Amino acid sequence: MACSRSSTPRWDFDLVTLDTAAANGEAAAKAASSAPEAADEDVLIRARGVNVSFGRKKILENLSLDVRRGEILGFVGPSGAGKSVLLRTILGLNPKQGGTIEVFGIDYHQASEREKLSVERRWGVLFQQGALFSALTVAENIEVPMREYLDLSPKLMRELTRLKIDLVGLAPDAADKYPSELSGGMIKRAGLARALALDPEIVFLDEPTSGLDPIGAADFDQLIMTLRDTLGLSVYMVTHDLDSLFQACDRIAVLGDRKVLVEGPLSQMLQSDHPWVRSYFHGKRARTIVTDDATPAQPMPSDGAA
Ligand SMILES: Nc1ncnc2c1ncn2[C@@H]1O[C@H](COP(=O)(O)OP(=O)(O)O)[C@@H](O)[C@H]1O
Ligand SMILES: [Mg+2]
Repeated sequence: MACSRSSTPRWDFDLVTLDTAAANGEAAAKAASSAPEAADEDVLIRARGVNVSFGRKKILENLSLDVRRGEILGFVGPSGAGKSVLLRTILGLNPKQGGTIEVFGIDYHQASEREKLSVERRWGVLFQQGALFSALTVAENIEVPMREYLDLSPKLMRELTRLKIDLVGLAPDAADKYPSELSGGMIKRAGLARALALDPEIVFLDEPTSGLDPIGAADFDQLIMTLRDTLGLSVYMVTHDLDSLFQACDRIAVLGDRKVLVEGPLSQMLQSDHPWVRSYFHGKRARTIVTDDATPAQPMPSDGAA
């Protein structure tokens, strides 16, 4: 367990630094392209050649990424680089101008309404701002996706909601509380419970530990790892939190220069000679974590760690 979580998780590198780094980024691109390909059945999300622009501003260009079954993928990159944009694009909330994104083998952007529904039932999302409905209790919040996608009796829904609340480590009496009555950590857990409402195969988490105190953040990471191990859950986690990357993530993808610069286990990040990746994973904060708790997350057996 991490004992020295960074108290102010601010790893927002500016884009000027990144552009300089990108100019020297050939080695990183080579490392990314040499990452071992996962078998099709192990890939839940496959993005290839994705382009996203807002007006004339290109945010993502020729971006490719795999998310594998049963892994916690940490998605990292400078503030404003497009991490949330990619997440929203995967979820079909942003249009893309090129490329393909398959989720569970289905191209969601091209899918029929029926196919879209079937995909939506298999994923859960915790957005960056927590996004609980403030006028609803925790239980009512968790019931929202159940009402939208399932046809359950009120009794069964209540029972399932109770299970989800227990699953994320909230006390039973949290069910009838409103978001304003909860601590930051409890709000994240309630948001996670709602993301798990439909028993998804994958959850998308956007900066889930930002704003939490170090112990709350470490507890949240532990919860995510437990859910991966017990439910076989796959997790796509956008994060700035180095502790999460070192402790919880099986693989990491770095966004920069509008694409994924490098994708692989922590060992691959530590070996990368891309300047931005180096400064991120070998910076002072990273060194503190490695020194204080030298047990980073183990690569997935299928990674053939670089
Ligand atoms: N709907 C939108 N319209 C125009 N620009 C947007 C929109 N959403 C995001 N952007 C821009 O895209 C860039 C990437 O944003 P974002 O994905 O939120 O960054 P981050 O990597 O910090 O999550 C930013 O410059 C942001 O202003
Ligand atoms: Mg963001």
